[in-house]
Amino acid sequence: MAFSDIHTHFNPGRVVFGPGAIQEIPGFLETEAKVFLVSDPGVVSAGVLEPVEEMLKEAGIAYSLYDRVLPDAPLSSIEEASAQYREEGCGALLVVGGGSAIDSAKAVGVDVTLEGGAAAAATGAELTGPIPPMVAVPTTAGTGSEVTGVAVVADEANKIKIVLRGGELLKPKTAILDPELLANLPPKVAAETGADALSHALEALVNRNRQPFAEAHALHAIRLIFENLRALVGDPSNLEAGVNMLAASTLAGQAFANVGLGLTHSLAHPLGAHHHVSHGLACAIYLPVVMEFNSLAAAGAYRRAAQAMGLEVGGLTDMEAAGAAVLAVEELFEDVGIPLSYQELGVEFQVTDEMIEEVLGVPTRAINPRVSTREDIVALFNAPR
Ligand SMILES: [Fe+2]
Repeated sequence: MAFSDIHTHFNPGRVVFGPGAIQEIPGFLETEAKVFLVSDPGVVSAGVLEPVEEMLKEAGIAYSLYDRVLPDAPLSSIEEASAQYREEGCGALLVVGGGSAIDSAKAVGVDVTLEGGAAAAATGAELTGPIPPMVAVPTTAGTGSEVTGVAVVADEANKIKIVLRGGELLKPKTAILDPELLANLPPKVAAETGADALSHALEALVNRNRQPFAEAHALHAIRLIFENLRALVGDPSNLEAGVNMLAASTLAGQAFANVGLGLTHSLAHPLGAHHHVSHGLACAIYLPVVMEFNSLAAAGAYRRAAQAMGLEVGGLTDMEAAGAAVLAVEELFEDVGIPLSYQELGVEFQVTDEMIEEVLGVPTRAINPRVSTREDIVALFNAPR
């Protein structure tokens, strides 16, 4: 960080965690208003929503269910959900799902709060007041969206990802982390979402806004991911690995909610939007190459990351320790079955001017520790082969 700057660090709202933590949902809704319950078809078919609905009925809490969240949260589905929120006269949000579901619920919150709705927010209009009170219950350990003030939605027509930014006004009031909800997660999803969490931690650790509070969260997230991701992918019903990975994803979310991300995410969003690659995979494919690129500017921070990964770095220079951290990330990804090249990913990758322009214009590029030219962006796009 620039030590002459004044920083502000926010902590998240309430975080409730542990096996069976979803039992606490009714007590945290804190509202007389009808609850808008957001979920996705995968969560419904995994049987995760049923106990939540039963709990609400038992507690006499009125709710309206929207369970048609689509991957990548396209704006059209947000508008459909908001229409239902208004028709049903809802006044609070409860979301049970992965990153797309939580981001969709936040976007509905923006849509019903801001004049001009989510479409206006997508073009830069800012929230002037908080979204309705939200309880977020993640069913994957990755996005950290349960504690961040951003929501990523997809503009399908223009093939771009839009980041809605609302800071404290867009943060859920309560995050409930229940590892029992991960028990039926496909191991592939556990791996990909874990890679997203690791990208958040490593980008928040090294970027230009880095500061000690965010670093504490990021480093512990890295430690927990290296200690638990393999075990969770091996057995998603492992409660210890589950609660630790949920904690890691929330800690990493808290880190980047305060300081932002970097080039891995700048590159991942266009890949996701143009080639329909999941966000976690898109981050995973660029994380090692971006780390290598960034080492010149952030070797000291990567050394601390290497230590958090459990590597022995005594006697190594910072650059050598940074190199060891890159290798450890690649090894982790290989172990959990994450592709490290376009070929393995099955994508016919061709970098386009449009994708380069997108990267050149995003704020995550501006805060990346190492400055990047247009040629650097092209080289990074072409690196994972
Ligand atoms: Fe991410």
